Amino acid sequence: MCGIVGYIGDRDATPIILNGLKRLEYRGYDSAGLAVIQDGKIEIRRDAGKLAQLSTLVNDQPVCGHIGIGHTRWATHGAPSARNAHPHLGTTGKVVVVHNGIVENFLELREELADEGVAFNSDTDSEILVHLIERYIGGGNGLVEGVRLALKDIKGAHGLVVMSSDEPDKIVAARIGNAGGVVVGFGEGEMFIASDVPAILEHTRKTIFLESSQMAVLKKDGVAVQTLDGKRVESPIHSISWDPVAAEKGEYRHFMQKEIHEQVRALTDTLAGRVDFEKGQIRLPELNLTPEFSKRVEKIIITACGTAAHAGMVGKTLIERIARIPVEVDIASEFRYREPLVNENTVVLAISQSGETADTLAAMEEARHRGAVVWSIVNAIGSQAMRLADGQISMQTGPEIGVASTKAFTAPLVDLYMLAVLLGELRGTLPAEERRKLVSDLRLIPDLVGKCLNREKEVQQVARAMKDVKNMLYLGRGINMPIAYEGALKLKEISYIHAEAYPAGEMKHGPIALVDQDMPVLAIAPRDPWYEKMLSQIEQAKARGGNVLVVSTEGDERATKLADHTFWVTETPWMLSPVITVVPLQLFAYHIASYRGLDVDQPRNLAKSVTVE
Ligand code: F6R
Repeated sequence: MCGIVGYIGDRDATPIILNGLKRLEYRGYDSAGLAVIQDGKIEIRRDAGKLAQLSTLVNDQPVCGHIGIGHTRWATHGAPSARNAHPHLGTTGKVVVVHNGIVENFLELREELADEGVAFNSDTDSEILVHLIERYIGGGNGLVEGVRLALKDIKGAHGLVVMSSDEPDKIVAARIGNAGGVVVGFGEGEMFIASDVPAILEHTRKTIFLESSQMAVLKKDGVAVQTLDGKRVESPIHSISWDPVAAEKGEYRHFMQKEIHEQVRALTDTLAGRVDFEKGQIRLPELNLTPEFSKRVEKIIITACGTAAHAGMVGKTLIERIARIPVEVDIASEFRYREPLVNENTVVLAISQSGETADTLAAMEEARHRGAVVWSIVNAIGSQAMRLADGQISMQTGPEIGVASTKAFTAPLVDLYMLAVLLGELRGTLPAEERRKLVSDLRLIPDLVGKCLNREKEVQQVARAMKDVKNMLYLGRGINMPIAYEGALKLKEISYIHAEAYPAGEMKHGPIALVDQDMPVLAIAPRDPWYEKMLSQIEQAKARGGNVLVVSTEGDERATKLADHTFWVTETPWMLSPVITVVPLQLFAYHIASYRGLDVDQPRNLAKSVTVE
């Protein structure tokens, strides 16, 4: 995961940056770099590989100054290499940038800048930023104005930190959307900036967090925060606790809330190094997938438990639609005792956050024993499930601490989508034009999730109104049917409210008898191919006096006219819509549990890793 650290003050910036980056090392990265203004000139040291390599480089070619910025990179556009590592220097050699996020309109902007005569020194989307900033500096505009104007040109979610040798008294930082946090730390006559609190904790506990669409101008004796429209903002100061657990939570009350917000970054990292937006192709090298084997696969069985199984249910629709391979989803605790019918042309794909779930591991062993090829999608690096698999996709979410799984649900949704596209290409079931479109859609995802998060306050209000309900019914269809299951599971496990989920078409076969004014019905009805069907289900629930909540596409009046409460989501290509529709449901469950005063991160009777049968 990309990390950012910056320093301005009287001390030498280099060791502060290197130590700060070290504190973020556990998040994973593939290259690292720093820039320091030394004797009025920007000096950059950067390399592929680990921080030890960067430290060796700095030892061999020392660099020293009172202002600097550093970065650990997890490759999205362009391979992990020294030239693609951040910081990125502009053509004038006077402006330098580190950046987290994906520039969604990267290809258009690069063409535009190339037409203006800009030569690029890397394959990254981040380099675009430094050239845009340089485009706007001059003619009376300084660095702050240059950054502000450049940000108006780019689409997507971003966190960035910039400095200029012409203005060595300041660091400019900005946050747009939710590409991870930007935290400012106060020292005595010195200031710090970072993507994550742990990077600066050894120096300060006094911090502010930038909100979306805010910029910060750090000087050594303080910070000024403004909106992207140049309006001054008074940001609340947070005092970070000395308790390491509380410190890790940063600006959030619970890990679950933090992890819901981390999804933007986790999804950006999920795409990193796997999506080639220019060629419109997917690479999943850890899967060891050959075209011959892809063509030979007769069946995929996805096996998992709980939330991971719900991700698998979405994967079924994706793989069947895109790669035209039949997919079964089998709860791992059932699969292992079912004498499953598999052979060497069957893939058994296990999904697990912890990689240590006893039932999932046993299912993998059973599959192997019966001659299937075993793959895994796992979060915990080095876990059993990772080691047991013939091929794997590692989730790039970072550790998940809240017992209720959130970011480890949306990441495998995107992994499964990428897998479906790759299989579709290798099997020849996916026309090139369609493939390019499906790949291109992926770049929208982090920002779309960010837009849902921006509506947290609205979800919170609904949660307050509903906090005392005793039961709920969740309905969905098609690709969003598993999201009904996932939403209901989130609600039961952390708020202890009885919640059931059904494919909406099943209502008439029994569950509709439950609907009255005491049984709220939550319907997931974005504009996907099942939209009309969902509308008629909502009408039926409403006609029976139900209190109806709807997850609905912005601007959709038909669904919301019927609803008592609406959770808005931005229009999303339907195959990716579950990544978006689940976010308000996660927030809803979180805020209900929080209003009920429950232990959100450690709900009763549950463990993060279920290592017993
Ligand atoms: C729900 C939840 C559980 C897990 C399940 C599988 O929020 O966390 O349902 O999804 O226990 O765990 P993993 O993914 O570790 O195999």
